[in-house]
Amino acid sequence: MSLQNTAAPEHASAPASERIAQHRRYLMCKPEYFTVAYEINPWMHKADPTDTPKAVRQWQTLYDTYLALGHDVELIDPIEGLPDMVYTANGGFIIDGTALGVRFSVGERSGEERPFMDWFARNGFEVVEPVAIQEGEGDILLVGDVILAGHGFRSDIASHAEIARVFDREVVSLKLVNPNFYHLDTAICVLDPVQGPGGVDRANIAYLPSAFDDASRAILEQRYPDAIRVPEADGAVFGINASSDGKHVFISPRATGFDALLRERGYEPVHVDLSELLLGGGGIKRCTLELARGAR
Ligand code: ARG
Repeated sequence: MSLQNTAAPEHASAPASERIAQHRRYLMCKPEYFTVAYEINPWMHKADPTDTPKAVRQWQTLYDTYLALGHDVELIDPIEGLPDMVYTANGGFIIDGTALGVRFSVGERSGEERPFMDWFARNGFEVVEPVAIQEGEGDILLVGDVILAGHGFRSDIASHAEIARVFDREVVSLKLVNPNFYHLDTAICVLDPVQGPGGVDRANIAYLPSAFDDASRAILEQRYPDAIRVPEADGAVFGINASSDGKHVFISPRATGFDALLRERGYEPVHVDLSELLLGGGGIKRCTLELARGAR
């Protein structure tokens, strides 16, 4: 555990009873056709065997856990031949009923673009077709009123102006420099996406400092002085690829250092093991796309 995390200012360490779980509506996709058929990130190895029924069982646990904690989960049908569709975070980016579609940088996943946009349209979202290349909530995160947007590996920095225009919000560009953390959601976890009651929580994040270039790290330090700096060992097991409802933080059981830091701040870590889906380079957050935050 690093010293800077133990010296958190008082308001950042509210006890668990003060942390309020905010309702979420998520989109997930059952990994019925999951396998590693190609290699588009350093975690994927075609030679390693995958166990699809096990992936489905682990995914089902995440689904059941969200429901048990009162969240709504919508499902998009998996499509044969699109093994990465389970990583729904890459399907779009949504705020207040407006869904920006994605344009993948990798041809292997371009077949997912239209099915996700069609799903949004069928389910009452206003769909915006993207122009620039970006990979949805994998690289675009809403933190309070601000949008953090990653670039460096998959999403094109040209997409950031488009995101700002579509959602009329400030977009902060962050450059990723370590190929193991090629999407923003592998290096940042949004803990409190919505302002908490009584101003107890300010929008806060957890992040892996070494995943960013110096300028981006400076921006994160300045904007989020109370952020949890996640230890390298937890980043290396994809521990940051976690989702949060403001109280429960859904994390890998391997992320033991992150778990301790969350408890110190009054969050309640909920462990879900997605080891099989890690073979495709994805974790909990990647299997989760936020359709709505806060209100039911
Ligand atoms: N195999 C997938 C890819 O490389 C994994 C996607 C991970 N998604 C994410 N939101 N980080 O595209």
